[in-house]
Amino acid sequence: MHMKLFCVGCGPGDPDLLTLRAIELIKNSDVIFTPTARDGKPSIALAVVNKYIAESTEIVSLTFPMTKDTELLKDHWKKNTKKIVEAVLSGRKAVYLTIGDPALYSTWIYIQRELEKTHPEIEVDIVPGITSFFAFAAKAKLSLAEGDQTVGIIPACYDLSKVKQAAESCDTLIFLKDGRYFDNVLEMLSTSGFNEDSVIAIAQDLSSKEEVMILNKLKDLQKSKGTTQKYFSVMVAKKTND
Ligand SMILES: C[S@@+](CC[C@H](N)C(=O)[O-])C[C@H]1O[C@@H](n2cnc3c(N)ncnc32)[C@H](O)[C@@H]1O
Repeated sequence: MHMKLFCVGCGPGDPDLLTLRAIELIKNSDVIFTPTARDGKPSIALAVVNKYIAESTEIVSLTFPMTKDTELLKDHWKKNTKKIVEAVLSGRKAVYLTIGDPALYSTWIYIQRELEKTHPEIEVDIVPGITSFFAFAAKAKLSLAEGDQTVGIIPACYDLSKVKQAAESCDTLIFLKDGRYFDNVLEMLSTSGFNEDSVIAIAQDLSSKEEVMILNKLKDLQKSKGTTQKYFSVMVAKKTND
């Protein structure tokens, strides 16, 4: 028997922004695994693809706690992988969902690594998805890079010295994860090569009813604090040439 697990990138939140392949796999799956940060918390990826799921498909929620406790994390990666393995070995068509693209800050990689260690006979097939910042760039009509410009992607990180290094060497920075640290970053950017006219674009809850989008200059945003307070935030900072 050919054993395969599919990981499907579900895009930024709009069900119309899935690939045809993603929709096809979701429609024909026997079981769908969806990551969530807490037991009982609705999965965002699941909400995005809900309309494509057949009634007969089983939905299994897998918890990936947001913690830095590596032992606890490893324990969850193992338990979650075991559940997926059971489904695949029983011959069911199993799909693992992830928001955006599976290659970017996704829980998927922990499942993939665990599978490679424990069940290398299970083939994985990964379907790429549209990441939040490409969806954001499209909506804001913002070019992320041109010509020889460089781009850095930075997760919520309180080590501002690392952010400063990236700011000094990149033309565009994309900040992901927790929006509550964006104010500190904005303060630091002007001393790290971003002039006051640099473009700053901030989005929160893209492709949802609560969507917030702000496009402004660094000098204007530095004055207003607390622009975004959510985990589901993206910020793009782009240097101007003059
Ligand atoms: C765990 S990472 C997953 C990234 C995802 N794999 C991707 O390709 O976009 C979650 C972060 O992605 C960003 N994100 C993903 N979807 C978003 C959306 N619809 N609106 C705003 N931010 C989003 C936020 O920065 C959020 O904290």
